[in-house]
Amino acid sequence: MEKILSEIKKILNQAGVEGEIELTSPPNPEMGDFAFACFGVAKVWQMNPVEAAKKIQSQLLLTPHALLTKVVVMGPYVNLYFNSGKVADIVIKEILKKGKKYGVQAKKKERVMVEYSQPNTHKEFHIGHLRNVCIGSSIVNIFKHSGYKTIGANYIGDIGAHVAKCLWYIETYKKDDLRKVSNPGKWLGQMYAEASQKIEAEPDLKESVAEVQRKLESGDKYWLGLWKKTKKWSMQEFKGIYKQLGVDFDEWFFESEVEKPGKEMVAYLLKHGIAQRGEGGAVIVDLNSFGLDIFLILKSDGSSLYATKDLALAALKFKKFRIDKSIYVIDNRQRHYFMQLFKTLELMGWKKDVAFLGYDFVTLPEGAMASRKGNVVLFNDLLADVESSVVRETKERHSDWKEKNIKDVARKIALAAIKFDILKHPIDKVIVFNKEEALSFEGFTGPYILYVVARINSMLSKANSKSKIANHKFELLDKSEEKQLVLWLGKYEEVVKKALAEYNPSVITRYCFDLAQAFNNFYNNCSILKAETKDLMFARLSLSMATKNVLESALGLLTIDTVEEM
Ligand code: ARG
Repeated sequence: MEKILSEIKKILNQAGVEGEIELTSPPNPEMGDFAFACFGVAKVWQMNPVEAAKKIQSQLLLTPHALLTKVVVMGPYVNLYFNSGKVADIVIKEILKKGKKYGVQAKKKERVMVEYSQPNTHKEFHIGHLRNVCIGSSIVNIFKHSGYKTIGANYIGDIGAHVAKCLWYIETYKKDDLRKVSNPGKWLGQMYAEASQKIEAEPDLKESVAEVQRKLESGDKYWLGLWKKTKKWSMQEFKGIYKQLGVDFDEWFFESEVEKPGKEMVAYLLKHGIAQRGEGGAVIVDLNSFGLDIFLILKSDGSSLYATKDLALAALKFKKFRIDKSIYVIDNRQRHYFMQLFKTLELMGWKKDVAFLGYDFVTLPEGAMASRKGNVVLFNDLLADVESSVVRETKERHSDWKEKNIKDVARKIALAAIKFDILKHPIDKVIVFNKEEALSFEGFTGPYILYVVARINSMLSKANSKSKIANHKFELLDKSEEKQLVLWLGKYEEVVKKALAEYNPSVITRYCFDLAQAFNNFYNNCSILKAETKDLMFARLSLSMATKNVLESALGLLTIDTVEEM
């Protein structure tokens, strides 16, 4: 599309328009493909904008250009109509030539780190964690696609009060079960949930948990042994989930590894007067003059805090990985804390590019599928539930399919439905996840988009002559539905740029939907396999193939896999 736009700008230059040229999209396709507003140029020419528009129009009509079929003046605007076949020729050729590389930007030298997921061990992995993974992996993909050297990093919360609470509970009440658990990751999550309930009911027990925490921190052999063993279980559980989600991390950080360096950083901050001893001996950074209150970075008993570790983590990221930008994908409730952290880094003289990407939580419509605690829904339960609905439906549609095939396809559709639904919401809005809605084949959903891809696959395999598809007579594609589809395909690059600039995967979901709709419009109004001529059939098949390419690429940015058939 950039190629085409720069061509249009050249044409306008020739018509006497100088300087920056901005083209806009008219409110509807009947009014043209692009519009040029003449207010600016009218000022330069010292005439009224309507007159300026007329002047440009007459200039353009004097020297007709192959790319344009019509030039119309609408008030102060010059509206331009593209030659659909010519544009199709440029766009489709480019897509089919580049394949998966279409829209991928040239390599840049900046290094970006996206920290996401960051679950705590010894706890359950719920659908809030899922939202984090969906957003984070999509942001990584968008940066990679845009040419940045991008590091996707995880930061596991493997120490702290939650670990002590879980281990204390196991040791006190469930020691016998320890040897015979069959699904240790899940069991551990349960133990944590039970421990929380227990302590809520009997707050006096808190002191015993604190004792366990002290033992862990002082390196008590017995407790460390239990910690290591159970931490492994959580890690296996998480890695299983990431595998299901199709997500990979380039780097793994652990809270336990930055505790010590964190304490050293606190000492450094004290020494340089950035931090002070507060009441009772805790170490604080006074951020009141920035409207950020007091930032607590070390407990009065010398033990570390969340912040202690985050200081060291930030140092590690920038020094060891030499990154230029650090993005944190984190629950919005931690925003204030991160503003304090970033300000403290700044006070240390670190002029670093850091970004806090805060997302809100996910809930389910009242009552549906609530887990035993009533308020957390585990990722595994959600996936199993959605998947079983898809299996049921797929069996009905394809009674001849093998069990294994049904399972594979159902898993992909379920994941597409969940991920797409999560990502279509702006990240700072609460999501009420509605299974029926997310699974609908119609509307702004993952399955709707996958269905379009499957439909294209089925046409391509029926035509059974992929080799001829690149055989271009794209000038035959002159119907308005064809043109609209081509224009959407051409917009891909611009769309990813927008998603990147806004750190916003929902821009991509919206685009997938618009593109899928443009395809269905084309499909419903233009015969493809039964086109009047072979040439037209091949041209339309090529357009379909290009659509599939771009849809798959865009879904890939959302970490969504497609299916051959559904
Ligand atoms: N593990 C933490 C939690 O579950 C999130 C960690 C976020 N990242 C960070 N650098 N503090 O709340």
